Amino acid sequence: MVKGVSRNLGYYRVLIFFIDMMVAMLPFSLQIVSETTVFNTSSQIAIALPNCPEKCGDTQIPYPFGIGENCHYKHPKDGIYYSVTCNTSTSPPSLIYGDSLEVTNITLEGNIWVRNFVAYDCFNYTEEMHYKQNTSVRMNRFVVSTTQNSLVAIGCDTYVWFNSVGITNSSTQYHSGCMTTCNEEQGNSVGSMCSGIGCCRAFIPNGVYNVSVQAKSFYNHSYVVDFNPCSIAFVVANDAMPSPKEYLPKNFAYVEKLKLPMVYNWSIGTKDCLTAQAAEEPDYICKGNSTCVDLPDERGYRCQCKPGFQGNPYLHGCQGVGGGIIAFFIGALWLYWQHGQRQIKKMKESFFYQNGGHILETKLKRRDISMGSIVKMFTVEEIKKATDNYSVSSIIGRGGFGMVYKGILTNNQVVAIKKSLKVDSSQVEQFINEVIALSHVNHKNVVKLLGCCLETEVPLLVYEYIRNGTLYEHLHDEHKTRLLTWDVRLRIATEVAGVLAYLHTMTTIPIIHRDIKSMNILLDENYIAKVSDFGASKLAPTNQDQLASMIQGTCGYLDPEYLQTGDLTEKSDVYSFGVVLAELLTREKALSYERTEDDKKCLTSYFLRNLKDDRLLEILDDNIKSDGALVQIKEVANLVKRCLKVKGEDRPTMKQVARELEDIKEIGSHPWSDKRGVLLQKESEYLVGEIQVNSNDYNNSITAMNDSSSNSQSRVVSLVPLNDGR
Ligand SMILES: *[C@@H]1O[C@H](CO)[C@@H](O)[C@H](O)[C@H]1NC(C)=O
Repeated sequence: MVKGVSRNLGYYRVLIFFIDMMVAMLPFSLQIVSETTVFNTSSQIAIALPNCPEKCGDTQIPYPFGIGENCHYKHPKDGIYYSVTCNTSTSPPSLIYGDSLEVTNITLEGNIWVRNFVAYDCFNYTEEMHYKQNTSVRMNRFVVSTTQNSLVAIGCDTYVWFNSVGITNSSTQYHSGCMTTCNEEQGNSVGSMCSGIGCCRAFIPNGVYNVSVQAKSFYNHSYVVDFNPCSIAFVVANDAMPSPKEYLPKNFAYVEKLKLPMVYNWSIGTKDCLTAQAAEEPDYICKGNSTCVDLPDERGYRCQCKPGFQGNPYLHGCQGVGGGIIAFFIGALWLYWQHGQRQIKKMKESFFYQNGGHILETKLKRRDISMGSIVKMFTVEEIKKATDNYSVSSIIGRGGFGMVYKGILTNNQVVAIKKSLKVDSSQVEQFINEVIALSHVNHKNVVKLLGCCLETEVPLLVYEYIRNGTLYEHLHDEHKTRLLTWDVRLRIATEVAGVLAYLHTMTTIPIIHRDIKSMNILLDENYIAKVSDFGASKLAPTNQDQLASMIQGTCGYLDPEYLQTGDLTEKSDVYSFGVVLAELLTREKALSYERTEDDKKCLTSYFLRNLKDDRLLEILDDNIKSDGALVQIKEVANLVKRCLKVKGEDRPTMKQVARELEDIKEIGSHPWSDKRGVLLQKESEYLVGEIQVNSNDYNNSITAMNDSSSNSQSRVVSLVPLNDGR
């Protein structure tokens, strides 16, 4: 038995060795074949005239196109030109047709891809500015491909107007267009369908050139400018259609630079095949083994290699491809494919190693735990299936730290998949420790980590999906914020503080969150806080660039002591939490350029200054002022002040913060008292308990939303239908 196995293994090794040899020799043997026979691989076929550049950057330049006086096709009379230039001042160099049109691909099948600016109509009411730009493309006498492009407009108060000239009858104008509208909710949920809500799509008329596109709006975006400042419109290649949802919130600065690809059809001359053939060169240029193809909606003709031949039919003609060579080629391809499969497996293994998979395995083995029982290890294939191969429509978040996709597992569970930063090799162990620690955390206010995938270049983390959005959205959206009464806010704050205290002290390895902000606090359908995005998904950045981008992005929440020392401690979370508290009180963003004076941009200094000058009431959010809980609010404001102390050691611990918030919440149960001392008297607590039976039952959303305000019943009723959310 044993002998048999080892002999088999021996044969296997020999086979592998043989295959490796073949693969290694493949390019060499191909070259021999191509030199000794008429066979050519497509990359070896001369596509340009001798001594003429075949490429500009990565873009091939097949004849009849060419760079330089004698390198392209020219007809003395018809006025159609095939001359292109290479702009080497860009990186990579870009191929240019005409004055400035960027060409990205030219194929011998008659397609030429160009990248063109989009037309836009943008509004900025704070600056009282209106930016507008139409676009027009002139490609000599080539026509826009009808089948490979669409006319598209994206916007919520938008229509597009397309204007062009017919190639066979240039006195006739051809038009097309479409309109699109949406409200904010529709804009947030717009999919990839361009059906008139957020995005519309129209056909391009047959056989047109000299196109111009205008983006226009009906009401100057005055009703939608908050979530959609720009109307944009463009002709785009069907396979490069952008995601409407992603483009809706983009403003002028973005769309001004936006370029999208479109496809033109090119042809030779203005005559049909018969007429050109009769006139011979320079009118007719199809060379050996090729045929001439007439074009119904275009002028001129194209050349095509006969079946079984390949090459550039405009240049030296096409060469035959022999049968034996095809068989050889298929064989070689098969070997190559085998080799590729092994490469992929090797790559997965090396990523797994690089992402710390082996550390995870050893650690768990030591404790005699099987890997699957603690963190589910997802395969790349499972993740691809869940996210529809990382489709653009499954992206639900994007930030300095990577992407978040929404995915659906095969058991129909909806999950959020986070693609994190590349893990630095020095931090792999810490990363794995945190994955293990987080998968142990089973706290009702933490977004649960379900598993991970280490087979990809950057590790992927799979979390439960929370459907009601972030605290940030709820605070800074006029409509949603009405449901955030003071009691709800205070409860959310208490929940978050509780989680942080728990993670700092209760777990085996203290877990520092590192990035507490309202965007990382999710709310479920009952407005229960779920803290997301723990350290595991992003370790402290190691290089300066990353640090700089992090500071820019979240400056408003970042602990100033950490900025100075670079040491991240539990107290950094306390600081960030203080900023969230201030946000809950004022409904001001942590960093806002709308607060124009310099020292106002950061919420922290704005808040502390006003608190010092005894102007707390003036900066409070109006919505909570009327809730009549001023005693609580003042207490929370004082807590903010302590959390925001510059020196970490002066700040309270998260445990103290959590306890104080619990205490402050208790004051609310005593509407008539403004002294905390009353709390200590058990008897009165009982009294209150009888009046408001369920005031502490978090699991019941209705009572939780309602602890003390008597008129909130109607709000709760309206809360339910709004919850279907995203
Ligand atoms: C150009 O287009 C052809 C056909 O679509 C494609 O096979 C080729 O990869 C493209 N080349 C580049 C550089 O994009």
